[in-house]
Parts: sequence; structure tokens; C-alpha cells
Amino acid sequence: MKLLITILSLYLLLDQSSKMVHSQLIATKVAAVLPTRRHATAAHYDPSSDSIYIFGGRQLAGITNDILQFNITSETLTRAKGFLPVSRCDGTTSSDSSGNIYYHGGPNSAEIFKFSTSLQTVEKVAMLPARNSESASVQISPSSEEVLILGGIKARGGVVKFNMDTLEAQQLAPLPINYTVILAVSDGPGSAYIFGNPYTEGEISGEHYVIKMNLTTLETVEIGGATFPSVRDKGAAVWDGSDVYVVGGYGGFPTGIRSDSILKWSPARMEHSIIPVLNFPWAFDRQEFKGASAAFVERLRRIYFFGGMSQNAGSGAYMMYDGIWYIQL
Ligand SMILES: *[C@@H]1O[C@H](CO)[C@@H](O)[C@H](O)[C@H]1NC(C)=O
Ligand SMILES: *[C@@H]1O[C@H](CO)[C@@H](O)[C@H](O)[C@H]1NC(C)=O
Ligand SMILES: *[C@@H]1O[C@H](CO)[C@@H](O)[C@H](O)[C@H]1NC(C)=O
Repeated sequence: MKLLITILSLYLLLDQSSKMVHSQLIATKVAAVLPTRRHATAAHYDPSSDSIYIFGGRQLAGITNDILQFNITSETLTRAKGFLPVSRCDGTTSSDSSGNIYYHGGPNSAEIFKFSTSLQTVEKVAMLPARNSESASVQISPSSEEVLILGGIKARGGVVKFNMDTLEAQQLAPLPINYTVILAVSDGPGSAYIFGNPYTEGEISGEHYVIKMNLTTLETVEIGGATFPSVRDKGAAVWDGSDVYVVGGYGGFPTGIRSDSILKWSPARMEHSIIPVLNFPWAFDRQEFKGASAAFVERLRRIYFFGGMSQNAGSGAYMMYDGIWYIQL
């Protein structure tokens, strides 16, 4: 009997682990590395040069003004000709229809810089209504010249609309929730999903509502139930056309979610799953992985992510990364 139970449980164990393998994704590290280990960069995909540009970031030696170009096809990284006029980290980006990428904000910063991907020049073009960093930004639509810059450490529920054509930045009515960490994606046909970690007086619950914003009317509704795990630290969110994927910020020992995973949330099914990722930069449960920037490349169905750090929940000891990885969906 005992033997039978042992065999049975062994079978169940094997069966479970084979199920795990089916749903597992793999992080592939490319040969190119960032010039230094860094986190809090901003990554933006530019279809015209089929490259991802990586702006600023925080290194051991301080904040950088680098603009780096990662060529998707050759998997090479080069420094762009232009630099940010000042060192920046924790800002957000948007792009217009002429191949310019805009970098907004940063710690105690309100400047908006415009980077031309064809000329590789940078200029300061506008100011946010107030200094802000660690916001989320969503474009009204892929063809629109307007972007919303949401939340951030100086305005936890703030909404700023920036027009990349007229270069006007305007403060709008705030979100119904204040966030300590905010992430947002635009779905393409006119809605944004906003999530992260709502600011509450007491203990933060494990899961929270997602705000859906109509990007035409800017009306917001809290949808479904509390189905989104709180992203308590800096994560990066991308949209693949049907689902939200979050890289980093939610995992590790404190939350009971393994950090060597990505978080997927489906608005169609209103549920999330934690997908284990083989070969993730760090695979130890007491470490939280965070501070990477990410971009989705539709042509290849890949999420690329850049640098980041892992931090021990107990001791606070951390390690920064210079790696570039992609996860094939
Ligand atoms: C990216 O690399 C490919 C392959 O080497 C090359 O043909 C292409 O011109 C590069 N793109 C840019 C924008 O440099
Ligand atoms: C968000 O924070 C601001 C500033 O502290 C406060 O005035 C506002 O009432 C808060 N909003 C919500 C929805 O709690
Ligand atoms: C946004 O609201 C407008 C006006 O109510 C509506 O016509 C439009 O379909 C909504 N957009 C989406 C994506 O739901």
C-alpha cells in the first residue's frame, strides 16, 4: 500500500512537472550587453529603424544620459549619436508618426526631450505641468500624436496629456485611484488598461481592480473583480494585441510569486497567470527582479527587456544587470 501511494504521488509529481514545462517560456540572452549595469531605463521600439532605443538609466556610478540603439535583426547595440542633454532615469517615452521619440520627466524633472531616430539629434521641446517620474505613458492610438502620462511619484493619480505635434502639455482630471506604482498599456483600438499598486492606508491586498480608460472620452471604469496581482515595485508592462505582460516588479519572497516568471493578464478572460520563465536573469525566490525596461516587437512576437536589478527582500542587497533578453511568446 505504502509503495503504491509512493508510486502514485511520484506519478502525480511527474505529471505536474510536465504540465509546468508546457506552459513555460524561455528567456534568451543575446550576446550584446548594455555599456554598464543599469536599471530604470526606458525602452521604445521604433518600426522605421526596426530598433529599440534605450534611454538613460541608473548605474552604480550614477544616472546616465545615454541613448542606445538595439538593432533587432543584427542583435547589436550601439550608442546613438545624440545624448540626453542631462542624465535621466525613471522617465517614460512616446513616439510620433515621423519617427521621433519623446522622453518625459525623471526625478525632479519636467523636461520633455525629442529624439529624432533618423538624425539622432536631441532637443528639449516642452515641459510637463509639474516635475514627475515613475509615471506610465499610453498613446491615444498608434496613429495619434497624443500621449497620456499617468501617475508618478509626484502625482499618484495625475493625468497629463502631451501633444507631440503642438508640443502642448496639459493637466487633466485625475484617475479614480492613486497608485504607488503605476503601469499602463494601450490596447490599440481605443482603450487603456491601468494597474500597478493602488495606494491604500492599510496593508495592500494581493489583487486589485484594473482601470479601463476610454482613450477618446478619457472616462474610466474599474472592471471585473480584483484580478490583477499588485505590482509593488518597478515593473515593465507590454501589450501583445490581446493580453498584458508584466516583466518584474511583482515577484519574489514577499509576494509569494516566483520572480523568475512573467505575469500575464487577459482582459477577455479577466484573469491572470504567472508563467514560469526558464533562464530568467535571476531564479532565487528571495530575490525580487525589477527595474528592467521592456518593449514588445510584434513582427517576432517577442518581449525584449533590458538590464534591471534583483534585490534580496531580507537583506536589501542588490545586483544590477547589463543583459538584454527576449521572451518568445
Ligand atoms: C540592423 O542590422 C541589419 C543587419 O545587419 C542591417 O541590415 C540594418 O541596416 C541595421 N539597421 C539599422 C537601423 O542600423
Ligand atoms: C489622491 O491623492 C491626492 C493628493 O494626496 C488627494 O488629493 C486625492 O484625494 C487622492 N485621490 C483618491 C482617489 O484617493
Ligand atoms: C469611447 O466612448 C465613446 C463615446 O461613448 C464610444 O463611442 C466609443 O466606442 C468608446 N470607445 C471604446 C474603445 O470603447
